[in-house]
This record gives sequence, structure tokens and C-alpha cells, in this order.
Amino acid sequence: MNFEAFVHRLLEWYPRHKRDLPWRNTDDPYIIWLSEIILQQTRVAQGLPYFIRYAENYPSVQDLAAAQEEEVMRLWQGLGYYSRARNLHACAKEVVNSHGGKFPDNYKSLLQLKGVGSYTAAAIASFAFGESVAVVDGNVFRVLSRYFGVDTEIASTKGKKEFEALANRMIPKDRPGEFNQAIMEFGALQCVPRNPDCESCPLKSGCFAYRKGVVGELPVKIKK
Ligand code: ADE
Repeated sequence: MNFEAFVHRLLEWYPRHKRDLPWRNTDDPYIIWLSEIILQQTRVAQGLPYFIRYAENYPSVQDLAAAQEEEVMRLWQGLGYYSRARNLHACAKEVVNSHGGKFPDNYKSLLQLKGVGSYTAAAIASFAFGESVAVVDGNVFRVLSRYFGVDTEIASTKGKKEFEALANRMIPKDRPGEFNQAIMEFGALQCVPRNPDCESCPLKSGCFAYRKGVVGELPVKIKK
């Protein structure tokens, strides 16, 4: 597969189109972790005010760990999936009590933290520590499946593994964090789920789905 054109055009597109989001101007693993937990199953527009509220109330992991559980839960009200808030508090305490207040600095160790799965561990490891490990979320599935013509069902274990392997083969070792942000942002702004504006897309010339006219059929999801 020709990764070169894809990676090159993506990294060219990103600085010209990216949104200015507060968690992108830092390499503090605490701030990055906080943003990624809040943004799970949540749109940026909805999550942003919550992120600002938590970051203001708890500027460090020590502040969050020392907070009252009730207050941490109250600040989460309206965001849903409340186990995330409980895990957020538990993880902050874990970092303070078992890691001397410092987040682990690599993917494998990050995975051991409460509430941190492969997606969040990859985000923190690449954005904060420059580790070359690909993030794979709904946006990434969509972009890769369309561009490279991968029709494996995305929710399956096999699909998840396949997309992870594909992303990890192309991630540039010298700019893993930027690549990860870029592919997610490209999925959020350009290669959107419904009626993407393919004519304006700088990646259309290499895109499998565009060439074959199957943009609306990828990625493949099991109908519920
Ligand atoms: N959604 C989840 N993580 C994100 C990030 N780092 N930037 C923008 N949207 C996101």
C-alpha cells in the first residue's frame, strides 16, 4: 500500500485546518489524559466546557486526587457515562498514591491505569511522550477504511486489530503525535460520516472509496 502520499498530504492538511483546542497546546500528560477521558463518546463541542471546568478546578493530578468524590461527580453532571467520572477520580488517586504523582511515560504502563484503554494510552503516549503508537477511534476507522478500501467490520476484534496494525505501519516515527491528531481531525472535519465534501478533499486522488464511488458504504458496520 502507498502510505507515503497519504501521510504526506494528511500532515500538510492538518496545520492549515486544525481547530485551536486547549489540550493541543500542552505536553502535560495529566491535561491530555483529562481531555481524552472527557472526549470518549463525546463531541468536542459538548466536552469542551467540561474540560475547562475540570482543568480550572483541578489544575494538577494532585488537586483532582485530593478532591471530594461528590464534587468530582457533580462537575460531570450532564455528560453521561458516569463511570468515566468515577474512574477519573480513581485514576488520579492511583497516579498520586502509586506513581508519585507522575503519569507513567509509556504505552504499556499507561494501559494499567484505571479507565485507560488502548485508545487513551496511545493518545497520552504519543501526545505527551512522543511514543510511536497509533490511536484508533471512530474517526480513524472511517478515514483508513475509505482511503485504503478496508471493508472489515470495524466493531469486530479482527477489525480493530487490522486497523490498529495498518495505522501502526504508517505512523511517522518522528511525528507520531502530530500524525495521530491529524488523522482524527481529518475524520472529524473533512472525511465526515455523512455526505463528506469529497470534491474539496486533498486526499481524493489516492482514495479507494472516492475512486470506486463507495464512500457511503465504508466503513462497514453491523446494522443494529
Ligand atoms: N476526540 C478525542 N480526542 C480528541 C483530540 N485529541 N482532539 C480532538 N478531538 C478528539
